[in-house]
Amino acid sequence: MTQDIDIADLKKITELIHVKYGYDFRNYAMSSFKRRMLRIMELKNLSVEVMLKRLDEQPAFINEFLDELTVNVTEMFRDPGFWRVMREEIIPGILLNHKQFKIWHAGCSSGEEVYSMAILLKEMGIQSDVTLIATDLDPAILEKAKAGSFPLKNMELNEKNYIRFQGTSDSLKKYYREENGKAILNRDLLENVSFRKHDLVTGEIFNKFDLILCRNVMIYFNQTLQNDVLKKFHESLFKYGYLAIGSKESLIWCDIASKFIVVNNEEKVYKKIKD
Ligand SMILES: C[S@@+](CC[C@H](N)C(=O)[O-])C[C@H]1O[C@@H](n2cnc3c(N)ncnc32)[C@H](O)[C@@H]1O
Repeated sequence: MTQDIDIADLKKITELIHVKYGYDFRNYAMSSFKRRMLRIMELKNLSVEVMLKRLDEQPAFINEFLDELTVNVTEMFRDPGFWRVMREEIIPGILLNHKQFKIWHAGCSSGEEVYSMAILLKEMGIQSDVTLIATDLDPAILEKAKAGSFPLKNMELNEKNYIRFQGTSDSLKKYYREENGKAILNRDLLENVSFRKHDLVTGEIFNKFDLILCRNVMIYFNQTLQNDVLKKFHESLFKYGYLAIGSKESLIWCDIASKFIVVNNEEKVYKKIKD
């Protein structure tokens, strides 16, 4: 069924989800939101009317819907240069003042980024000194992250990234075992890691961090929402804490820009310098 969806329908859907389930997609970037919606309708062979009815009458449908709506693409050591900057500049910068510190992975998806950080910290010999909190809006993807079981075929790209990152091992294989076509990440990587559901749009500030990674998430938000979320990150960071965002994202134009300095422009890492 080839269909289209107009702005009025998109508005009806976001309003219904907001009122009924408390998720607020009203300020997501319209074009990608529309593409995802059309994809759900096609995958599930639903018209707008039926989708609205299902969202209204079948509360269980919302989790399935969320999982399809959110873009969960991720990789271990995605952008290897970024991870080298973490290891060589940012984490040593934090360690100058704190032996123990806290990291927030916001929008962690299936956890590849979190496992990458755990490996990096382990290789630096500081895994037990660092607390990692990983959050996402989508409960189904968080379950995948907790399980740490990825399709073996994905490990090819992850391995390539790891080699480019130049980790201390000659292969990522040291960190997982193979079972039924899956790579099962070593459980000891989850020492000091907790996964929890948190919505960046409606969620409260829940802790203070030395480093926040929110990469490839705000790209799906419009400017108003990016601005609001960046304010939350500013509040959630200790003074002189670091914020890392995705390569296609920026905070130059936003309200809190003057409270940060650029630490690494290419890898989009900023440092909070003012409360
Ligand atoms: C493309 S993935 C990014 C994964 C990882 N950070 C990376 O760069 O590889 C985007 C993630 O953001 C999550 N997300 C989208 N909206 C969110 C929100 N309002 N609050 C928390 N997470 C959200 C999605 O569920 C998805 O898992």
